[in-house]
Amino acid sequence: MRNYRNLGILAGLALSVSVSGLSAYASEPTAPPVPPQFPAEGKIKYVARDSIEEFKALPEYHEPDWVTKKFVGTGKLPPVKDRLPKEPLVFKTGNMVDGPGVYGDTLRHVIGGRPEGWNYGAGQTQGWGGIDIGLSECLTRTAPLFQVQAKDTEPLPNLAKSWDWSEDGHKLTMHLIEGAKWSDGVPFNADDIMFYWDDEVIDPNVSPLGGGASPEAFGVGTTLKKIDDYTVEWTFKDAFPKQYLYTMSYPSFCPGPAHILKPQHPKYSKNTYDQFKNAFPPEFMNIPVMGAWVPVEYRPDDIIVLRRNPYYWKVDEKGNQLPYLNELHYKLSTWADRDVQAVAGSGDFSNLEQPENFVASLKRAAEKTAPARLAFGPRLIGYNMRMNLSANGWGDPDARGQAIRELNRNEDFRKAITMGLDRKAIGDSLVKGPFTAIYPGGLSSGTSFYDRKSVVYYPFDLKGAKELLAKVGLKDTDGDGFVNFPAGTEGGKNVEIVLLVNNQYTTDKSLAEGVVGQMEKLGLKVILNALDGTKRDDAHYSGRFDWLIQRSSPELASVVQNTEQLAPVGPRTSWQHRAGTDGKVDLMPYEEKLVDIVTKFQTSQDNNERVDLMKQYQKVATENVDTVGLTEYPGALIINKRFSNVPEGTPIFMFNWAEDSVIRERLWVAADKQGKYELFPEQLPGKPGDKGPVN
Ligand code: GLA
Ligand code: CA
Repeated sequence: MRNYRNLGILAGLALSVSVSGLSAYASEPTAPPVPPQFPAEGKIKYVARDSIEEFKALPEYHEPDWVTKKFVGTGKLPPVKDRLPKEPLVFKTGNMVDGPGVYGDTLRHVIGGRPEGWNYGAGQTQGWGGIDIGLSECLTRTAPLFQVQAKDTEPLPNLAKSWDWSEDGHKLTMHLIEGAKWSDGVPFNADDIMFYWDDEVIDPNVSPLGGGASPEAFGVGTTLKKIDDYTVEWTFKDAFPKQYLYTMSYPSFCPGPAHILKPQHPKYSKNTYDQFKNAFPPEFMNIPVMGAWVPVEYRPDDIIVLRRNPYYWKVDEKGNQLPYLNELHYKLSTWADRDVQAVAGSGDFSNLEQPENFVASLKRAAEKTAPARLAFGPRLIGYNMRMNLSANGWGDPDARGQAIRELNRNEDFRKAITMGLDRKAIGDSLVKGPFTAIYPGGLSSGTSFYDRKSVVYYPFDLKGAKELLAKVGLKDTDGDGFVNFPAGTEGGKNVEIVLLVNNQYTTDKSLAEGVVGQMEKLGLKVILNALDGTKRDDAHYSGRFDWLIQRSSPELASVVQNTEQLAPVGPRTSWQHRAGTDGKVDLMPYEEKLVDIVTKFQTSQDNNERVDLMKQYQKVATENVDTVGLTEYPGALIINKRFSNVPEGTPIFMFNWAEDSVIRERLWVAADKQGKYELFPEQLPGKPGDKGPVN
């Protein structure tokens, strides 16, 4: 069915969508134009939060036959019931599209990133594309909430199987899953939680991956302590800050194996922080995880292979230990190749997120023989240009860099930039048709908190933009077409702005080049600093940029996830404005308002108030051009047709990426459809640090 609807979109592509009624030179701020209608295909089937999972003991448990025969039968592994917790996490049948499944087969991912190492808690990337998401199990889980109506929503339990608030709302007691084990069989308990908190989150020399996992993300002054092996207690300054339950999900509270990590940490060893960070290079195999699959093979620039975790602590209602899939692949290629391979059937999964690939992918997916299904979701992929707003030393800028920071902090300058961008042209340069929409910045139009009337949009107005540049003192004094600094600044040289961009994504590069061209028309010289993902992120997080291009993250797509990243509420929570050399964020007045709004939002219990606060946020952020929105469009999930249990309407991005939202541990392939893709059939992960899986 979906494929025929895709044909409709293709037909629509022939008609160019006209945005008439929008006068090109109206420099008066207004609401953004109503975006072109786009038919989201997969209809989400909304369910109650409690209908997804529960924790309970079942009368019997099962596992693949070969595990019983080859491993339990020979005494290499304890019986499955002894490997599971007292009360495993049980996925309810009613929430599975195709019900409980059968064992076997492989999920073949393709990714564009490369692994730095396995020390996620110390800030190392595994190459994205769902690897870290799959290895990490977090206190709570939010990705599947896309199928829960907003009013009913609170994160799902995960490593924390339940929690209760003290009467005054300042203490939150969390009960951890009891008797669960790491993939090497070592018990998981409160010591893993405390190591993550004390020695990774709180330790200023360690910054866990995910950008926001700094202590302030859980509220200023928040503390955490161990009560017993399976109980931890949070203490908050505010009463009932339920919002932090979202911060306890991916990516901010997913503890690593303390029994492996702790001995390498500088507090407990002679290692430096650098040595700690790099103690588990990509070649280190069988790193213990709580996730459903364990890395057993790594071939540089080729593949990472993961095998099922024999200690995984989740089951279906029949007592089948999950995952159903025995193996996971991450082919190390490019992000664009991920689309190509998923559509062609040599890969199994892609988040179709680069509009440059939309038309070709849609065409192939619409064919009857297409191996994969493709379904578009809401318009939740957005891009912003962010300006470095620190004038007190974040990233240690030179004189030129400092002069740009001062400009970035000038409201008229930011307005000039936003008015100098022809967003219709930017969108069309990526893909023609009803996909892209004019996005001035701020919250994404696909979130339930979006209110178009609260968005202040400065329409494209090159003349007005030039006037504003002149007003802030930028004129082309030497007649080469680019504005210069005033005589007293930087010797009156041309203004040169360095734009940081990720060169692993076609879209990021297209957008950056579009910005360069349009800024040239405005008389501003912009130079690209195009870096590989990890280097780009390093430059970003350490503040070494004037401007940067960034794809939206969950705070814009869901608001409730990563909320602290909406404003500089702490020294390290904002994407564009972090603490300078004095440890403080030099907030501008409008940013103080944003901080105030976001802080209130995080502790408010009242749904209507929260909706209203986000309207205020949207207004203050867009009126002051907190970010320069570039474009917004829907993405499509491409997944091979042989997989069962793919939830209808799974968005590629909302609380988290689709790799998490599809709940991979529940995916299965019918026996007659199973491929012969397993590279290590009937093998299981070996000892931490040992090479390869074992027989
Ligand atoms: C990259 C990809 C996304 C998604 C995430 C998962 O960013 O571009 O589509 O797979 O990784 O972390
Ligand atoms: Ca000049």
